[in-house]
Amino acid sequence: MSKNDKVSKSVIRRLPRYYRFLGELLKEGKSKISSRELAERMNVTASQIRQDLNCFGGFGQQGYGYNAAELRDEIGEILGVNRNYPAVLIGAGNLGRALCVHLDYEKYGCRLCGVFDNNEQLVGTRIGSFEVQPMTGLESFCSANKPVIAILCIPKSAAPEVCEKLAGLGIRAFWNFSHYDISLVNIPDINVENVHLGDSLMALCYGINNSEKKYSEGSEEQ
Ligand code: NAI
Repeated sequence: MSKNDKVSKSVIRRLPRYYRFLGELLKEGKSKISSRELAERMNVTASQIRQDLNCFGGFGQQGYGYNAAELRDEIGEILGVNRNYPAVLIGAGNLGRALCVHLDYEKYGCRLCGVFDNNEQLVGTRIGSFEVQPMTGLESFCSANKPVIAILCIPKSAAPEVCEKLAGLGIRAFWNFSHYDISLVNIPDINVENVHLGDSLMALCYGINNSEKKYSEGSEEQ
């Protein structure tokens, strides 16, 4: 499917936005869109869109634009949104509970299949449709359910050991909220997406702190 094996991270980061915007267009009943129109809506340049999509062989026809449903499907295929990758969530505290209940994982390509914590008081309690399981049960759970994604909602100090354990149990990707730098653990061929909500907030504060300079980048990232 991909023309280039090495697609830059910034292109990959834009793909979910294309996917989301195209979904919104379809909901509005628009089936066709030009790269100029798509660019205007997404606040990027038309040439940026063409360059991004060319990384995957290019879509659309000169003079016709893009078929929104086809393009969305192609991007969804590239992202793997229909793959339903099984995921486990580690750390059923405040953040873990919120992520467990408020996110529609299947919409984004995964399926949450288990929630784990090492706090005995939490083990056996329910979060939505999940019962919190003990870390001692992780190994047998992973061999039965084969999760490939781990959502890390544990303290930074606990992360190195937990990451190594999870990698040994077949986890190939970490959605990492723990503030730990997973590259410090020697795990080959692992995918990591670090999330720092605080960074986003600080970038916002930069905007008011430097109001004369107008922080405009954020307006692109709707
Ligand atoms: P919390 O204390 O409510 O939950 C942490 C949970 O992890 C607890 O239930 C605890 O029992 C469990 N845990 C600790 N060690 C473990 C281990 N070895 N194995 C399994 N479970 C273990 O904390 P909260 O508020 O849910 O935050 C979790 C982590 O996420 C914290 O480190 C916090 O700094 C970080 N965080 C990161 C954010 C981000 O944007 N990246 C935003 C909010 C919190």
